[in-house]
Amino acid sequence: MKSITVKAQNGTYDVVIDRGLLSRVGVLLAERLESRHALLVCDDVTARLYSGTVTASLESAGFDIATFVFPHGEANKRWNMVGEILEKAASANLNRSDFFIALGGGVCGDMTGFAAAVYLRGVPFVQIPTTLLAAVDASVGGKTGVDLGTGKNLAGAFHQPACVLFDPDVIATLPVACVDEGKAEIIKHAVLAGGRLYEIALGGTLLDDMEEVVALNVEIKRSYVQADPFDTGCRQLLNFGHTIGHAIEKFSGYTIPHGQAVAMGMVAETKSFIKLYNEKPEILEIIKSLLEKNSIKFDIPYTAQELAQVAIHDKKMASGNLNIIAPLGIGNCQIRSIPVSRLEEYIEGGL
Ligand SMILES: NC(=O)c1ccc[n+]([C@@H]2O[C@H](COP(=O)([O-])OP(=O)(O)OC[C@H]3O[C@@H](n4cnc5c(N)ncnc54)[C@H](O)[C@@H]3O)[C@@H](O)[C@H]2O)c1
Ligand SMILES: [Zn+2]
Repeated sequence: MKSITVKAQNGTYDVVIDRGLLSRVGVLLAERLESRHALLVCDDVTARLYSGTVTASLESAGFDIATFVFPHGEANKRWNMVGEILEKAASANLNRSDFFIALGGGVCGDMTGFAAAVYLRGVPFVQIPTTLLAAVDASVGGKTGVDLGTGKNLAGAFHQPACVLFDPDVIATLPVACVDEGKAEIIKHAVLAGGRLYEIALGGTLLDDMEEVVALNVEIKRSYVQADPFDTGCRQLLNFGHTIGHAIEKFSGYTIPHGQAVAMGMVAETKSFIKLYNEKPEILEIIKSLLEKNSIKFDIPYTAQELAQVAIHDKKMASGNLNIIAPLGIGNCQIRSIPVSRLEEYIEGGL
């Protein structure tokens, strides 16, 4: 078992990582929360696979649990679904000291966290991530929200979880494509932070010791979210690969999944950085080999013009300047600023 404590504005929370933990969720939450009444939110897949174990564990620890199940997928991470979660909480008579539990991937966590942030002006919530991506990224840091018609994650709130409980055994049922989503974000962390995670990634053995790998990722993400809780400074380093990645994802009509797009984005942004700043190209080869060793593809099937037209709408580019990530070396990345007018040139440099 590993336990990592994250400091947040309003206190601290634990990220507990342990194999077989799902059947001990009741005991773990009874130790950490006063209330014995909660709303469990899951999608239809995690409901089928894991809600039975979690509910049984909670009930045997004395919890009274209402459940809300939504159809899986990003298309359902919407405003109206949050409304339904809130109605369910109200009809189950949850009060201000009661809490929400998200049992699922990033879609479930983001949406449940947002519902918890606004229900009765804010109740606690617990993250039980069931995808690799949610375990290494989405469940830590307190960003919650939903998509709008014009783009992803355009409405939301910062709301920190009361705790995060991850059982590595759940990854056994995750489709390979979803595992790859998580791997791409892990490689991003390995580039940003270097160290042990970088060595493991270079060896192509990210899934061999999931407890260790997830813990290393949580520690890396923690270092950014503690230093910059509201994403106005160094936390933006976590956007490495995401500027061009988001454009790829959006231009593909979301047929290229997020992790794959981020992998493509990391390679393209590195290429472009090398061209713009006349840097040495070694880092590009290292990033490519990290992706290759972990079987993540990174060739981009679009032109710079195609991507530039969608990138300009990205929410992060609203102001006159665009923050780009400069990967100077492994464990040595910086934020640089270029005018948005150079966006097309930036993308072109990466293709
Ligand atoms: N809040 C943040 O900081 C943050 C960070 C990164 C990503 N995100 C968000 O996370 C979302 C993506 O998360 P995701 O990739 O987990 O997507 P997801 O929640 O849609 O899960 C992917 C698929 O896997 C299924 N699934 C989940 N757990 C499973 C399991 N153990 N076995 C089998 N199937 C399982 C789900 O039903 C779903 O179909 C995006 O909406 C993204 O915006 C948020
Ligand atoms: Zn991402």
